[in-house]
Amino acid sequence: MAFREYRIGCIMFGIALSLSMFITVILPGLDISSRSSTKAALEKQLTYGWETGFNYYDPFLQGKDKPIKVTLTKDPATGAAIDKTDAYVFPAGTHFPSGLTHDNILGDAVQKASVDLGKVGLADETKGGVFVVSSTANDTPYIEYATATKGWNVDATLKAADEQFLAGSGKTMFVREGCWWCHTLLPEQTQDWQSFGRPPLVGDFNGESPTTFGSDRKAPDLLHVGSRNSSREWMVMHFFNPRLVQPHSIMPRYDYLWGDVDIDGKPIDLAAWDEHYLEYAEGAHVYPPEVPIPAADSEARMLIDFVLNLK
Ligand code: HEC
Repeated sequence: MAFREYRIGCIMFGIALSLSMFITVILPGLDISSRSSTKAALEKQLTYGWETGFNYYDPFLQGKDKPIKVTLTKDPATGAAIDKTDAYVFPAGTHFPSGLTHDNILGDAVQKASVDLGKVGLADETKGGVFVVSSTANDTPYIEYATATKGWNVDATLKAADEQFLAGSGKTMFVREGCWWCHTLLPEQTQDWQSFGRPPLVGDFNGESPTTFGSDRKAPDLLHVGSRNSSREWMVMHFFNPRLVQPHSIMPRYDYLWGDVDIDGKPIDLAAWDEHYLEYAEGAHVYPPEVPIPAADSEARMLIDFVLNLK
């Protein structure tokens, strides 16, 4: 008798375990391949590259192993003028996003267009390359491997770029600095829509890891912050010391992301800055001290590029 109950218990346990594995492991996979990536998902994959959380290639979250987003107004191969285009440059060895390395991430139609028209099958991580997001005549977005289709190589594209955004590395800063403790990247389908912009669509997240939705909101949603506030100067001041622009802000200072020197190579003396700022706060000076402009390779620059790129 006891043996029979034991057996029923084992069977029930087996069924429950298999069912939960099916639900947590298999079903999301099916769901991803049944949802086509939106244009936003393709842009995010190409901006952020592979995994942004703690990972083998960037264990200390320093913004390594990330592509560079550039804007072009001339063709890097021919020099001819073109309409303003965003391109995503992966220097040799930069890991590709999973949409380029796995065939069930983009969704069937997007995958097919990316392979047939976009020639992504020719791309090779070890050699790097340049990508753009294009769309077919019937509006299916796809990834185009511009190195194969247009002859845009990494060096020429970086040289021809009007602007370079280190938004991929900046997402690493966003994750590392825990911005998501206060900020969400997920406007909801409520009145949120009116102040923070449109909620994302399901297909916006294909291939993005992590999604950095955030867990709790103590501060404005940032999913479209670059559309409502595109001022780099404001961001520089607000990240250096939020109290410079919002007197009662609870947001922490991120002045340490500036590193040792500013954009002109001048040393940054945080202690002297603080001293001057406190004197200003007590009324001894009319103006607060100048905020240093972040160096081109500083973590502050990466973070600001990421934030301004949230459109
Ligand atoms: C302790 C909570 C907190 C943390 C942590 C925090 N913020 Fe904020 N943030 C705020 C608050 C509150 C505001 C509203 C404006 C203000 O008070 O400065 C804000 C405003 C902003 C804005 C302007 C939003 C708008 O609508 O224009 C940006 C951009 C921003 N934060 C980015 C960041 C980033 C990036 C990080 C991580 C490096 C971060 N914040 C970390 C609380 C926080």
